Amino acid sequence: MKAIAAVNKKGYIGKGGDLMYDIKEDLAFFARTTKGKALVMGRKTLLSLPDGAGLKGRTNIVLSRTMTEEEALSRKVRVARDVKGLFTLLSELNIDQNDLFVIGGGEIYSLLLPYCDTLYITRILSDEIGEVKFPEITSDYFLTAGEVHSSGDLAYRFDTYVRQR
Ligand SMILES: NC(=O)c1ccc[n+]([C@@H]2O[C@H](COP(=O)([O-])OP(=O)(O)OC[C@H]3O[C@@H](n4cnc5c(N)ncnc54)[C@H](OP(=O)(O)O)[C@@H]3O)[C@@H](O)[C@H]2O)c1
Repeated sequence: MKAIAAVNKKGYIGKGGDLMYDIKEDLAFFARTTKGKALVMGRKTLLSLPDGAGLKGRTNIVLSRTMTEEEALSRKVRVARDVKGLFTLLSELNIDQNDLFVIGGGEIYSLLLPYCDTLYITRILSDEIGEVKFPEITSDYFLTAGEVHSSGDLAYRFDTYVRQR
């Protein structure tokens, strides 16, 4: 699996049920990287997406213990009840684990980070305090830091972490 996230210098990814930053180039990077792929997300992240529905042109899987199958269908997602159920669904849908992107939020990054060998982290160079954090990235990941870009007065970098085996 791969994870993709926008994380600030203090580790925050979300506030008030939403993203903390709106950087066009980062949204374009997300769209380009995940196009045609399978995504897995938590129920709260699904609800924060446009129309509270799965993203077009991708297979959307939501982890939820509470969402009914009917609601999942109407939101254009498949639902898994736990990690075991996620793996069962992946094999039913013929999706290779390596092609699955973990897109958040905090609970789901923490749950699935142990399965992620690559992390695409847009590091937002801001110290703002949020409510939801990305889990600690342990030292078994090797970091390739990208160049610093800016959007208005916000600076950011496209970093890639690859787990050393
Ligand atoms: N910066 C970024 O890149 C980024 C990306 C995505 C999201 N976010 C932000 O992150 C925040 C949301 O994150 P969050 O941690 O509050 O919520 P979340 O991870 O999106 O969703 C949490 C929900 O996932 C389900 N869940 C969690 N663990 C589960 C398990 N083991 N098995 C089955 N279902 C499980 C539960 O749904 P049920 O209650 O239905 O059981 C839980 O309420 C928002 O602010 C969002 O904007 C930021």
